[in-house]
Amino acid sequence: MSLPAIAVKNLVKKFGDTTVLQNVDLQIPHGQVSCLIGPSGSGKSTLLRCMAFLEEATSGTITINGEVLGFTESATGIRERVPPAANRAIRAQIGMVFQQFNLWPHMTALGNVSEALKTVHKMSRKDAEERAMAQLVKVGLESRAGHYPSQLSGGQQQRVAIARALALKPKIMLFDEPTSSLDPELTGEVLNVMRDLAAEGMTMVVVSHEIGFAATVGQQIAFLDHGRIVFTGPPQEVFRKPRNARLEQFLDTYLDRGASMLL
Ligand SMILES: Nc1ncnc2c1ncn2[C@@H]1O[C@H](COP(=O)(O)OP(=O)(O)OP(=O)(O)O)[C@@H](O)[C@H]1O
Ligand SMILES: [Mg+2]
Repeated sequence: MSLPAIAVKNLVKKFGDTTVLQNVDLQIPHGQVSCLIGPSGSGKSTLLRCMAFLEEATSGTITINGEVLGFTESATGIRERVPPAANRAIRAQIGMVFQQFNLWPHMTALGNVSEALKTVHKMSRKDAEERAMAQLVKVGLESRAGHYPSQLSGGQQQRVAIARALALKPKIMLFDEPTSSLDPELTGEVLNVMRDLAAEGMTMVVVSHEIGFAATVGQQIAFLDHGRIVFTGPPQEVFRKPRNARLEQFLDTYLDRGASMLL
């Protein structure tokens, strides 16, 4: 088997005395969309944040394209921090989009997308804005480049946030409930951008309650419950004939079973 884009091994995350992730093992294949589902508080965001190194795991390892992120761990459990410069380079392969778009209110769409290119990547203003514009075109917002966040709809703001992440040329994109704060009529435009990205072969990990998206675009579904991966499999197995009692209960309680018609 070829090297996975992300390999999570025996990951444990504790906040104080509370164990939020318990011995999580998960592989994210290249060029596929993996969807993470599970009840509120099951640890989905925490797992995603560990993959982006926004949280440090308590034990276990995360490997990005074969390189260990954050901390290496010996067979006897001794952890060693990966040198900062090397770790930054590994982490730079990951782009992340959140439920809250977190755009800078005082910058235009173009400013939001080009800012890190100028300040972090030291690109010239011209080059940064050219690359930023190309990303805005990609998410269908070229005509909104000069607008401030307050002049954009929620769906447009989220597309700017996606463009901002893509401008940094990540190899893997993580999405944490990217449509959950949007009105239903604005959800589709964001999911369409994500569909296009998937069709281009971007490796994606998506936490979402949009079961229609998971069922039609996801190639792998992982179900997290109480900090454990209970089930992983293709959408057909998850939604059409869930064999795991806990998963079945989750689908009954949380999701629109009508979505199984999509399969
Ligand atoms: N910084 C933190 N400090 C303490 N506990 C935390 C912290 N972040 C998350 N938790 C706890 O970890 C657990 C998992 O939270 P997490 O946000 O990962 O769940 P989730 O599956 O994303 O839930 P939701 O669907 O509501 O977004 C919860 O019990 C939460 O209260
Ligand atoms: Mg969450």
